[in-house]
Amino acid sequence: MDDQSKWSLPSNLDTAHFREVLGHFATGVTVITSIDDKGPMGLTCQAFMSLSLRPQLVAMAISIESTTWPRMQAVGRFCVNVMNENQESICRAFSISGQNKFEKVGWTSGECGLPLLIDSLAWIECRPQQVYEGGDHHLIIAEVESMGTKSGSPLVFYRGGYRTLES
Ligand SMILES: Cc1cc2nc3c(=O)[nH]c(=O)nc-3n(C[C@H](O)[C@H](O)[C@H](O)COP(=O)(O)O)c2cc1C
Repeated sequence: MDDQSKWSLPSNLDTAHFREVLGHFATGVTVITSIDDKGPMGLTCQAFMSLSLRPQLVAMAISIESTTWPRMQAVGRFCVNVMNENQESICRAFSISGQNKFEKVGWTSGECGLPLLIDSLAWIECRPQQVYEGGDHHLIIAEVESMGTKSGSPLVFYRGGYRTLES
């Protein structure tokens, strides 16, 4: 899949152990959305971070196997929807490639015309500026164009499972 030859360590490290160790890093969960002439699209993404204040930049990692990313990249804009504690079913739906992810999901258009999922805790509409290769993922840096928040509590992902701040 990826070109291992340029990395200094052999690729025989245990991937299950890697997942287990890195799974101890608790994060929020996002669903990244966009829209083109075929309709709205999106995927669940945990690998998201705030990157820079001036300019305002965010970053995320998306698998090179994602079928959604090439469409998003062609649009040149996407919206990061930060999930609230009641949106676990949305995260699950948007993590299954190939299905009609928007079938049971309410959304509205943001300032930049991108799909904002109803009840998301926060949304960040942005424009990708740089895309780097990061093993089997793309590392994407994006400039923020518009953003906002709603009251509520976040959905958390920890050690392979969904949690809330209370659980
Ligand atoms: C909690 C959770 C977090 C995820 N985080 C990421 C992520 O950070 N990057 C990524 O590429 N895929 C991530 N995924 C997997 C994608 O959501 C999944 O591969 C998706 O089906 C890709 O869809 P697509 O082929 O329609 O683009 C995550 C899945 C779950 C359940």
